[in-house]
Amino acid sequence: MLEVVKVATRLKNALLADAARFYTEDVGPWVPGMPTPQQVSAGTGREPLWLNLGYWRDVEKVDENNCERVGELFPAAQAQMAHLLARTAKLGAGESVLDCGFGYGDQDLLWAESYKPARIAGINVTPTQVRIASERARLVGLDNVIRLQEGSATSLPFGAGEFDVVFALESALHFKTRRDFLREAFRVLRPGGRLVMADMCMKTDREAGLGLRQRLHLRYWRGRIAMPESNVWTSQRYVAEMQRAGFKNARLDSIALDVYPGANTAFMALHSLTRHQREPGAMSLEQVRENVRKARETDPGQLFWHLHYNTDEYGLVYAEKA
Ligand SMILES: C[S@@+](CC[C@H](N)C(=O)[O-])C[C@H]1O[C@@H](n2cnc3c(N)ncnc32)[C@H](O)[C@@H]1O
Repeated sequence: MLEVVKVATRLKNALLADAARFYTEDVGPWVPGMPTPQQVSAGTGREPLWLNLGYWRDVEKVDENNCERVGELFPAAQAQMAHLLARTAKLGAGESVLDCGFGYGDQDLLWAESYKPARIAGINVTPTQVRIASERARLVGLDNVIRLQEGSATSLPFGAGEFDVVFALESALHFKTRRDFLREAFRVLRPGGRLVMADMCMKTDREAGLGLRQRLHLRYWRGRIAMPESNVWTSQRYVAEMQRAGFKNARLDSIALDVYPGANTAFMALHSLTRHQREPGAMSLEQVRENVRKARETDPGQLFWHLHYNTDEYGLVYAEKA
């Protein structure tokens, strides 16, 4: 009976694709011990609580020899993702920034300290994240620059032309819908303002020819991570949607190979080490290393994101309001 309830709940959650529920109940930060959202606290404000897959091009990748240091290596790659977005936006001192889907606020602390914008406004649908991120900004003394609030990126509580830069760091896949967000981002940007995102999509439309069973499989797993079906776009469609919203110089550069394989290995290290530490005797350190080695050698075409979400593309997305 319990099993039936579990399956029914999963199906319902997949159908609803509700990001606030997902990040309130299911998914906590990707750090050692894999805490649930309920276990997270603001701490000193400085402990990493990132929720992105990381940009692994220029940092030490996790492997079977260094996997004990995943708690240091994963956040370094995640911070690199935030730097990549800032560099792509050419984020400058004194600018006004809007961050849509800020997680626990790590990127806002990083941008505020490293790039000195005048203001970072943030919007996020997950109330616990808003509370913890706001507390962290206060604890590190940046609450005069960073102002975070609850709300949806698809209906922004800001006036037209308020921002120089709008960011969405691995969050737009969840927005209901991403198209509504593009319209809103265009509205709140000033002329000459930049939209920069890190986001998942498909390289090509691989779904048209699939049978019902495979389509339901993808739909179920995307729903489980709160990715609505309306956001299943190819990279070509992504660029076309930005142009349709009025943006100029829209582009999507593939960084998939600098994201997915590194993240896959890091997740395996986090999960296996957590099991090794929490359940004595369940997994030896040698088994942890073996799992990590296998994960590192996985063919990119066989990674979870490709097989279960059909998001084989990971884009660095850029557009300007003329
Ligand atoms: C994968 S997490 C990324 C968090 C953060 N950018 C990071 O890199 O750590 C996705 C974030 O998008 C937020 N989100 C989802 N739907 C949203 C919406 N409609 N409006 C604003 N934020 C949303 C979630 O609450 C979560 O914080």
